[in-house]
Amino acid sequence: MGHAYMSEWLVRLMTSNANKRCEASQICLYDANVNSYEEEIHIMASRMTINYEKKPCYDIVFAGDFSLLAEELADLGTADRRVAVICDSNTEKLFGKEVREILEKSAKKVILHAFPAGEANKTLDTVKEIYRKLIEEKFDRKDLLVALGGGVVGDITGYAAATYLRGIDFIQIPTTLIAQSDSSIGGKTGVDFDGYKNMVGAFYMPKLVYMNVGTLKKLDDRQFYAGFAEVMKHGLIKDALFYEWLLDHMYEIHDRDTEVLLEMVMKSCGVKKLVVEKDPKEQGERALLNFGHTIGHAIEKAKNFEMVHGECITLGMVAAAFISWKRENISMEEYYEVRDMFVPFNLPISIDDIDPEEIVSLTKSDKKMEAGQIKFVLLKKVGKAYVDRTVTDTEILDAVKEIYFSDEDMRE
Ligand SMILES: NC(=O)c1ccc[n+]([C@@H]2O[C@H](COP(=O)([O-])OP(=O)(O)OC[C@H]3O[C@@H](n4cnc5c(N)ncnc54)[C@H](O)[C@@H]3O)[C@@H](O)[C@H]2O)c1
Ligand SMILES: [Zn+2]
Repeated sequence: MGHAYMSEWLVRLMTSNANKRCEASQICLYDANVNSYEEEIHIMASRMTINYEKKPCYDIVFAGDFSLLAEELADLGTADRRVAVICDSNTEKLFGKEVREILEKSAKKVILHAFPAGEANKTLDTVKEIYRKLIEEKFDRKDLLVALGGGVVGDITGYAAATYLRGIDFIQIPTTLIAQSDSSIGGKTGVDFDGYKNMVGAFYMPKLVYMNVGTLKKLDDRQFYAGFAEVMKHGLIKDALFYEWLLDHMYEIHDRDTEVLLEMVMKSCGVKKLVVEKDPKEQGERALLNFGHTIGHAIEKAKNFEMVHGECITLGMVAAAFISWKRENISMEEYYEVRDMFVPFNLPISIDDIDPEEIVSLTKSDKKMEAGQIKFVLLKKVGKAYVDRTVTDTEILDAVKEIYFSDEDMRE
């Protein structure tokens, strides 16, 4: 299976003006009274309220820096509370000092606790260390945890907050694109157990999510684009206009332009908000977020978690789009467009060293199975996904073969 076919769309995109700036990116982020562009960047912030059981539950603040954090915390009444900032070894170095100094102005006492970075530390042992620290520092029920980092820090801190003294408040300060577009919203917290991902956890809502898109500038390219895969997923499953907007802003996204990142993260959170509000406990609609994840998780497992999650789910999204084409939900041209649009964002659309049969059998162990039946997410069209329980092994195998790029293909 080669990739000789390049959709018209990709050719158009690759040849379009590198500095194109779409008027649409100027929408509604700004205070109408601000005049200069510099001023706009500084004050540029907006917020979105996430509802839970139809009531406002927490706000997401979107900002280009940390300048609004102190005020936001003051609004949560931190002045007479102790705050523990939980970070990993990387986010401690990158943002620990700045965030700590801000918090010191708005809280009774601030402590910072860091654990070694990496998914391997998303365990109960790390949570235990956090409990120990909180007990030593005499944290009580009215005190507060702050998760400063990516999805690993967010998931662990949320779980520690959900369980310490049967629940204390926490806020999320997500610093990766995965965390800003996905993991910090929706209240899923937890840890891995004995090598099983997210096996132990709780639904527990933060009091605030503070998104500083400026932090994304420090991410390495691989992490950035892996997070971008989830952003693209949001467009594909729910919002065709957002998907097109992403393609139109490819160059600004590559440049990590603050203004465009802000709008991108906001729009992405808008999709996640729609989904989690409709289905907070993952009984229906939330399954759509699993687009690309059935085959993606199987590839992740087959590759012993050596590949980045976003890259695996990109392959899974291509395979799911392929099945959607074969079922005549989308046209061949649409399939190739969906596939090819990942390329300019440095995401893989084929993989060479897998065994397609093994991938099919690994899809069976996906947690998202229901009564032995895979809940497969397919596209009805671009911007609209649905759950299908009738996808067969043969369809999955054909789709995996479509993304499998073997040595024989090289010789063709
Ligand atoms: N709770 C949910 O709903 C949900 C959803 C999706 C993913 N997740 C979880 O999220 C985790 C993956 O998230 P992740 O990719 O953010 O992982 P991560 O937290 O491990 O972050 C990736 C790496 O980037 C570093 N880092 C963080 N911020 C940085 C920055 N601004 N600049 C440079 N480096 C930075 C981290 O130290 C780490 O080394 C997984 O454990 C996954 O299960 C949870
Ligand atoms: Zn994912």
